[in-house]
Amino acid sequence: MKISFAASASGDAIAAPVFADRALSDAAKALDSATSGAVTRAIEASRFKGGAGDLLEITAPAGVDATRIVLFGLGDKAKLDGNGAEKAVAGVIKSILISGAKSVSVHLDGDAELLCRGALGASLAAYRFDTYRTKLSDDKKPSVQSVEIVSSDAAAAEKLWADWAPVAEGVTLARNLVNETPNVLYPESYAEKVKELSKLGLEVEVLGEAEMEKLGMHALLGVGQGSVRESKMVVIKWNGGKSGDKPLAFIGKGVTFDSGGISLKPGQGMDEMKGDMGGSAAVVGLMAALAGRKAKANVIGVIGLVENMPDGNAQRPGDIVKSMSGQTIEIHNTDAEGRLVLGDVLWYTQDRFDPKFMINLATLTGAILIALGHEHAGVFSNDDDLVGKLEKAGKASDETVWRLPIGPEYDRQIDTPNADMKNVGEGRLAGSITAAQFLKRHVNEKPWIHIDIAGTGMNAGSKDPRIPTFGTGYGVRLLDRLVRDNFEG
Ligand code: BES
Ligand code: MN
Ligand code: ZN
Repeated sequence: MKISFAASASGDAIAAPVFADRALSDAAKALDSATSGAVTRAIEASRFKGGAGDLLEITAPAGVDATRIVLFGLGDKAKLDGNGAEKAVAGVIKSILISGAKSVSVHLDGDAELLCRGALGASLAAYRFDTYRTKLSDDKKPSVQSVEIVSSDAAAAEKLWADWAPVAEGVTLARNLVNETPNVLYPESYAEKVKELSKLGLEVEVLGEAEMEKLGMHALLGVGQGSVRESKMVVIKWNGGKSGDKPLAFIGKGVTFDSGGISLKPGQGMDEMKGDMGGSAAVVGLMAALAGRKAKANVIGVIGLVENMPDGNAQRPGDIVKSMSGQTIEIHNTDAEGRLVLGDVLWYTQDRFDPKFMINLATLTGAILIALGHEHAGVFSNDDDLVGKLEKAGKASDETVWRLPIGPEYDRQIDTPNADMKNVGEGRLAGSITAAQFLKRHVNEKPWIHIDIAGTGMNAGSKDPRIPTFGTGYGVRLLDRLVRDNFEG
């Protein structure tokens, strides 16, 4: 879908804002007079109040060239921010995406950043994953081909869009990866896809099982040993900062399918475990966004790619493996595999790159869904200052996080008499925390945050118009914002 900015409207469909208590924007007033009052009559005939999320469509109005007018609520004018603009424009696009309209003009007033956030909302809402729908009838396919944001500040926004379009593209990339099927996206094919990003100026390096064996990454390798697919680790580098500046490091769990292994998951909903690489997808989408907008920072992305399968060669409960850190781990449940992958990738990253900080993302525990639903990601950290920055970035991007505790009082749960630790806690108590506690044992005094995105990374059936498919792309906007606001220039 093409996105642009213009000073006047030319679309088949024209969308205009209305504020709280039915207060018409200038654009809505102009449409009202052009249509001899059809806008005010339509509002009076409806329950449309101009609240955030309210929509009212007027089809085939007389007096204008457009085939439809869409009024959208922005609520209290004084409180309008980037998130509000993003969500409102997303609502408009969602409502007319398959209506037959081919081009849409959305009136919006504000500074260049607010207009760009509106455009980002359009991109998020227009996303589809129709690759395999060979029988989708034409009238179910999106008709909207282009969206223009109409404003007197169009020129400034068009310029600033160079800084935001890559974020929209990064989210699309992350969503495509999460939605892609596990017979198509497995560690090797995934690594190949990431290699294509070198066209953006990223350096991409792929390590296979032989190399990881040499490094002693037996925790990661143990997870993949029941799969016919070779495990991979991919290192992605963006050098946009001063040479010699320590890199920021982002690490992602990339389990391309999580069957649970020998501790097999129940069949119900197991298909969703194609999305168990959502953390890695966020890292890949973020790196593409940073490269696309030429971020002034040195950044490393590292993703651990494995498939967790039951097989004659699969890891068993009772096995003890040694991680790259030299610590031994007794496997009690082969379905607690993400922490095994991340433990090694975290250790490798700090060992090789000595980053300024490490932030990992992972669809790590079902328990985080029980605690926070799809609304917040859970965060765990050893660094209050860094968490503060992440929380701010969460509010600014509307990809919100909620901090939960870690601490030595939880360590007892992952102790075992047979090895340095086991890979699960006791029963179901504090399941997300014990997973974080396990990761912390693979972090060597570095500022570190673990973001559990099991709830936010996959979300089929969200009501938010910005989240149209199962794969949400969560994390790209959050971390882009973190880098943008704190670690550039
Ligand atoms: N990938 C799952 C976590 C998950 C569950 C993500 C549901 C999204 C939706 C993870 O590998 C897992 O299986 N975790 C187990 C841990 C348990 C065995 C300690 C879980 O959450 O049940
Ligand atoms: Mn699992
Ligand atoms: Zn998993």
